[in-house]
Order: sequence, then structure tokens, then C-alpha cells
Amino acid sequence: MREGISGSYHGTGNAVAPRGTAERDGGMSGIRKVVFPVAGLGTRMLPATKVLPKEMLPVVDRPIVEYAVQEAAAAGCEVFVFVTGRGKSLIEDHFDRAFELFETLARKGKTRELEALEAALPDPGSIVYTRQQAPLGLGHAVWCARNIVGDEPFGVILVDDLVHARTPCLAQLAAVHAETGGANVVAVEEVPSEHTSRYGILDPAEDDGRRVRVRAFVEKPKPEEAPSRLAVIGRYILSPRIFSILEDLPPGAGGEIQLTDAMTRLLEHEPFYGVRFEGRRFDCGDRVGYLEANLALAMERPDIAARLHAFLRHYV
Ligand code: UTP
Repeated sequence: MREGISGSYHGTGNAVAPRGTAERDGGMSGIRKVVFPVAGLGTRMLPATKVLPKEMLPVVDRPIVEYAVQEAAAAGCEVFVFVTGRGKSLIEDHFDRAFELFETLARKGKTRELEALEAALPDPGSIVYTRQQAPLGLGHAVWCARNIVGDEPFGVILVDDLVHARTPCLAQLAAVHAETGGANVVAVEEVPSEHTSRYGILDPAEDDGRRVRVRAFVEKPKPEEAPSRLAVIGRYILSPRIFSILEDLPPGAGGEIQLTDAMTRLLEHEPFYGVRFEGRRFDCGDRVGYLEANLALAMERPDIAARLHAFLRHYV
């Protein structure tokens, strides 16, 4: 089998690939399948996302979606399930061979560029696409993957939350999933109290500084009603039981089928842990978060940092 993204991701030239001990978890995590719900409309990034899927916006020089797939591959995932919507077919094209381009690069002897593109291709058959036919909410998008995921725990990555970490964020969650004998796990981050109303917030039952046992999830509480400042960000490991819960779940906030509502019901049957992950998260679905991701990752690139530094001084 050709060595592609799911076989062994090597990183490419200047790519900001996941590094560190879990660089290749080799499936030790036990999480084989990961779902990327990418059917949202990306209204916060209009007009850039009128035609272009927000997942295809570049951070430095690679689309946001590629960082997410690299992270999942480095955490040991082998099946990448995309829940797409209308207008998202560029994502499929990105993970395909671009025949004319590859031919031309080969003919011109541009081996380095060609190898970089080859290395970022997933193994044939490892990516599965299904469509959410209407944007009925994140919970509904996850439910659309039920027949592909089947009866096993699985990861969920919200692509626009780009997490830059030494150990891939999903691998950090998978470690806690294993330590806790298969509990559900979410990534959490402390947010300023004035921001609690933007997130699902944890009500912690126990907290050892890294793992937080969840008593409840509170959706977008006002600062004075928030049980903590621990916000759920876009990384999850969920038990397949979530699918049967989502099946009968009525619409929640905003008239959408909410994943947080389903997690609240799942918590009645199974334990949930939050993980304070090591690394830095950028909300690339937001203009400022997106620009920050570009700056932060570009400043780590030896081929870019010096020039960027010089002109940043001019603007700041
Ligand atoms: P967001 O609300 O952050 O994304 O949903 P959005 O709807 O694309 O963006 P804005 O707020 O309009 O700018 C969180 C994640 O859930 C997916 C989105 O693609 C995003 O990754 N999602 C959301 C779906 O796949 N389907 C939906 O119906 C809703």
C-alpha cells in the first residue's frame, strides 16, 4: 500500500505537522474513525466563504482542513469521515490526485513539491464523504455519519478550531479515553468569564488539573450563571450511543439539533471527561482568530519568520 496520510504522515518540507511523542500513535489510541462535520455555512467569514468552503482557507500555505486530517492521522485514525454539504466539493478535490499538476511537476523535475503533495494524500479509500442535506445543526451533522462509524467510539474534529500542539490534541484526548477505560472525552480550554456565553461550559465534578470529570454541560451561560470557565472546544471522543440519542433529539438552541444536548443525555448513562490539552487553539471561523493562526504558524516557519518579523514591526 502506498504511504499516504493515514499510512504514515511524514510532514512535508515546511509543513507544520504534529510533532512529539504521539507523532504516530499507530492506532494505540484505539480510535480508528474520526468525523469532520464541515457542512456549516461559515457566515462569520463572509464574503470569503460565499463560494470557498471555510475549511479551504489557507493558514500560511495549506488549507485549514489539512491540519485537521494530519492531526487525526497522527493520533492513529485510519478512517476519515467528512460530513459535507452543498458547495464543499473542493474539499474532495483537495484530497485527490491533481493529474495535470502532478504530471507537470514530474516533467519539470520539481521533485520536492511533488513529494510534498504526494505525502499529504490519504490512502485510497481511507476518506469517506457523506452529505448533510440541510444545515440542521452540529448534532445532526454528526448523526449523518452513524452508518459509517458503526458501533465503536470515534473522534470528532471541528476543522475551524485549529489546535497547534506538540502532541496532537486528538491523541491527548485518546490517552484520557484509554486511561478512563473508554469514557467520553472533550477538549476544554479556560476562557475569560465574559466569553462563557459563546461556548458549552463544564460543570466540573472533580478536577486534577489535567482531567476534569464532568457533572453537567451548560450551553452558553451568562458569566454570572457559568459553573466554571472551562469551555468545550472542537475535539471530542464519543461513544456510539450518541447516535441513538441524536436520532430522537428535538431541536434545541437556534432551532438546531445540538451536539451538546445529546452529550447531556449521554452523561446520564456514561462518564465524560474534559481534558485541559497542551497546545494553542485558534478559532479560524472568526476573522481575528484566523489572522492570529496565520501569524503564529508563519512565525514558526524558518523560510518566512524573518521577513514577517521585519514588516510586523512596521505595523505594530
Ligand atoms: P459553526 O457554527 O462554528 O460553523 O459550527 P458554521 O455554521 O459553519 O459557521 P458560522 O457560525 O456561520 O460562521 C461548528 C461546526 O459544525 C459544523 C460546521 O461546519 C462547523 O465545523 N456544522 C454546523 C455542520 O456540519 N452542520 C451544521 O448544520 C452546523
